Amino acid sequence: MTRERGRNLILGAAIGIALAMLGLTISPSNGEETAPPVDPATLSGQALVDWRIGEMKRIGGMMGAIKRWDGNAASLGDLATAAEALRAAAGTIPAMFPENSGIGAEGVTKSRALPVIWEKWEDFVQDTNDLENAAAASAAAIATGDAEAIKASVQGIITACQGCHETFRGPEIQ
Ligand code: HEC
Repeated sequence: MTRERGRNLILGAAIGIALAMLGLTISPSNGEETAPPVDPATLSGQALVDWRIGEMKRIGGMMGAIKRWDGNAASLGDLATAAEALRAAAGTIPAMFPENSGIGAEGVTKSRALPVIWEKWEDFVQDTNDLENAAAASAAAIATGDAEAIKASVQGIITACQGCHETFRGPEIQ
């Protein structure tokens, strides 16, 4: 009885985690097409990098939606959706960077991912946490509707992006 209950609890937790993972792949409702979720484990070499860069651009788009806010209270709902999508997307970044998928890796011809990512993996993951927290702070600011607080929170997100790029992203590729 007790054991069965325990098993059910574990099963429930597993389903919860699976649902949470699915949720992480949901795109913001900013009118853009929702691409089918891709499991990075099925990709390698340049195909993985190209997909990753696309995902990063999508993350950039979520931030752009918040950054470009015109101060109109009517669009606060969309803004909240973008902030939540960004918060969720931050947690998907580590899985985009499997080992040997950066500069110099086999099959990778064009990437800005520095090898230091895998040397300082915990710092890298911490930077994704920082982004997650910044996006959560932005969602909280959006919920207040306070324009100044929202602007400040956008700056927090930019700082989080830059913090990681400074250490872990190499120079631009022509
Ligand atoms: C935890 C580290 C990390 C965080 C946080 C992060 N990035 Fe990145 N980003 C990278 C790395 C590394 C690359 C290079 C990937 C590659 O080329 O393989 C990259 C690539 C990109 C690219 C692709 C274009 C290019 O020239 O590299 C864009 C756009 C981008 N990031 C935007 C953002 C934005 C906007 C944020 C914040 C909302 C952000 N990133 C947060 C690490 C991060």
